Amino acid sequence: MGTYLCKNYKTDNKTNMFTFPQNGRSTEDILASLKELKKADIPWESGKTFAYTYIPNTEAYNLVKQAYSMFLTENALDPTAFPSLLKMEREVVGMAASLLGGDDKVVGNFTSGGTESILLAVKTARDYSRAHKPQITQPEVILPVTAHAAFFKACHYFDLKPVIVEVNPTTFCADPKAIEKAITDNTILLVASAPSYAQGVVDPVEEIAPLALEHNLLMHVDCCVGGMYLPFAKELGYDIPNFDFRVEGVTSISVDFHKYGYAAKGASCVLHRNDDLRRFQIFACAEWAGYSLVNPTVLSSKTGGPLAGCWSILNHLGKEGYLNLVKVQQDATNQIVAVLEEMPELEVLGKPNMNLVAFIAKDREKLSVFELAEEMKKRGWYLQVQLAIEIAPENVHLSINYANAPYVEEFLSDLKECVQTLSDQESQVKVAPEFVAQFKQLLTPENFGMLEAMIGTDDGGLPQDLVLVNSLLNQLNAKEKELVLTEFINKMFANRPEAKQV
Ligand SMILES: Cc1ncc(COP(=O)(O)O)c(C=O)c1O
Repeated sequence: MGTYLCKNYKTDNKTNMFTFPQNGRSTEDILASLKELKKADIPWESGKTFAYTYIPNTEAYNLVKQAYSMFLTENALDPTAFPSLLKMEREVVGMAASLLGGDDKVVGNFTSGGTESILLAVKTARDYSRAHKPQITQPEVILPVTAHAAFFKACHYFDLKPVIVEVNPTTFCADPKAIEKAITDNTILLVASAPSYAQGVVDPVEEIAPLALEHNLLMHVDCCVGGMYLPFAKELGYDIPNFDFRVEGVTSISVDFHKYGYAAKGASCVLHRNDDLRRFQIFACAEWAGYSLVNPTVLSSKTGGPLAGCWSILNHLGKEGYLNLVKVQQDATNQIVAVLEEMPELEVLGKPNMNLVAFIAKDREKLSVFELAEEMKKRGWYLQVQLAIEIAPENVHLSINYANAPYVEEFLSDLKECVQTLSDQESQVKVAPEFVAQFKQLLTPENFGMLEAMIGTDDGGLPQDLVLVNSLLNQLNAKEKELVLTEFINKMFANRPEAKQV
């Protein structure tokens, strides 16, 4: 007989691997298990989580759920079979285009998320350059170091060379001069962010786009996080530089609805200035034995749920609804930034254009942001940490969402107390240089079991001591970090339950 762990899965005693259930379980039992599983997750409903989840008011939330399940089974693989999905997609894309300064020539597609939108924009640039600049055999994409990792992933997937350029070290905005210097005969695409995720600042699109025009290049603006926020903030009178199709030279834009559009996850879109460009996004295949396949996006079969949820929330909230959400979030952000700027121990990175804020400890010897995040976690707050890179030391990132707004006072009071407590402590947890050196020496996939034992993740479970893990990762270079993360994930998704049950 096997053993039930957490009542959710069964393992085989001999192999300790998961097994296929012999008998089905009742709906009630399954739902109870799912509820139980959720207990291990970060408590996003508490309003104390500054990342990952985007929750509007209860009515809007319930509407999205209902709409999502109404279209769960419909398949967006074939718009001729499900014209409902085609209609909703055209409307959703049109709404995004109109918000982002597009005219009736702008076209686009609904995708599963920011990453897919970015992958498609980069693939479009690659195939456009193959058609129009066949002399380029080693295409390059210029990426300010603040561009989202999804662009690096796109370069990796599509065999393009990412040319990374530094940003302004004070404002964290992309530097048009550095971009211009990096342009070569092989360049196919320029990239800007509105805003970048890490520091929440909008790149000077109006200075970068003329370079694209001058050098006959495509230019993508990543509005994944800002596309459903900045247009409203601008309308509310906030000083936001131009960043969208109103700027000549911008050829494509990605915008996520599953962030500040408050749609359920699996909702984004990629927009192109016209269908002459979008042509290169589409994949058709008539060479195989089955049905003629033509996909504008990466996925083929896909549920209509996210699209229906998205269409519903955009229509439910309307401009008025989003203006209200953005106003609340901007007020909360301003309140938080004002306090952070007054605190002698902390420093805000750059001048955030929206509700994404990153801050560092001014004296890293006295205060570790990794410790701070853990100390805040004990009080129920979830803060995201970002590891050091050349342009910025390790820092805490806050996405200050609508659900966080009622808790701002409590958050600031806890933050001040935690900073004080940690700053008063004699010594902060530090990773001994010898430990780091030893770790680096052993850094190969073959030794990973040993490395896991060193950091306490060798039971297949999640790291218990995040301060140790983050402090260690923080001292590795990018390639070393990537290796550790890859091996860690490779082990984490194992075909056996972790030893320590949650
Ligand atoms: C600026 C930006 N671009 C792209 C992405 C990737 O989006 P996703 O996680 O939906 O793939 C994000 C996610 O936070 C983002 O902030």
